[in-house]
Amino acid sequence: MDCAKFIDEQIAEIKQTVGTATAINALSGGVDSSVVTALGHQALGTQLKTILIDNALMREGEPQRVAEIFRKMGIPVELVDAREEFLSALKGLTDPEEKRQAITDTFYAKVFSRLVKESGAKFLFHGTILTDIEETVAGIKRQHNILAQLGIDPAKEYGYTVLEPLKTLRKDGVRAVGKLLGLPEELTQRIPFPGPALAARIVGEVTPERLATVRAATAIVEEELADTGAFQYLAVLLNDYATGIRDNKREFGQIIVVRCIESVDARTATATKLPWDKLERICRRVTDIPGVNRCLYDLTPKPPATVEYV
Ligand code: XMP
Repeated sequence: MDCAKFIDEQIAEIKQTVGTATAINALSGGVDSSVVTALGHQALGTQLKTILIDNALMREGEPQRVAEIFRKMGIPVELVDAREEFLSALKGLTDPEEKRQAITDTFYAKVFSRLVKESGAKFLFHGTILTDIEETVAGIKRQHNILAQLGIDPAKEYGYTVLEPLKTLRKDGVRAVGKLLGLPEELTQRIPFPGPALAARIVGEVTPERLATVRAATAIVEEELADTGAFQYLAVLLNDYATGIRDNKREFGQIIVVRCIESVDARTATATKLPWDKLERICRRVTDIPGVNRCLYDLTPKPPATVEYV
């Protein structure tokens, strides 16, 4: 693919479509939304307002770090603190589908639609890629919010038009375009991270305390496994307790699962054969997290398991 030509064509099309109106987009820091943000800003400059919604479910320091990267590139990003709204929507929920739905509803129906209304934007950029469309149409994924494919007319229902400039690209194309747009590798070469963020890695209720636990474990796992070249690695908090012993006292502690996989496209996956000493180090560090006394390594391939636990 000729990335320079793709960028020129998209910029011309965006300019023509948006005209003098204002546009808005939500940046998560994932590859797709990052590339859309950079592309949209090249086309529209300050006519595009980019917001980053802190939903309380992101990784350690992630919202601030992502906003900072873009500010350094001269792209202003408004950080919106919506932590309370997401946490209260998730309160008491344990069913995986209900949790995912609560996050989607809070994002679209409450927080983002309010921000779009306040901004007066008529256009909304979305980082949909070709794989999202294919998988949504094929019924493989329900999580990708491809409004048109789902039969929702955003102009009628929400009052804005959705623009999806990456919808002809696959992930490798998106990464290449991002690189040419000047995005750092920290963003273009990121390992996959799910939309529901750390909530996809908490079995059972999502509370601030449980988020803090899985967030700490995630930071350890990502740091220890960054040099493996694995497709994806993550930490999961189970909704169960096990007996342990610490300082000569028996305690009932929480259980963290570590997952590290080899995959091409996440449709199938196998567990990475990690060196034993690396696993032992991770185990030692994870069981230093307050309240955690067990750390397990998941060997299950996909199928029958999925990558995420929720
Ligand atoms: P599963 O758990 O379905 O995950 O085997 C396959 C890949 O997709 C990612 N994933 C998501 N990505 N929104 C996303 O954008 C989601 O809701 C979501 N759920 C799973 C997962 O991290 C893995 O790479």
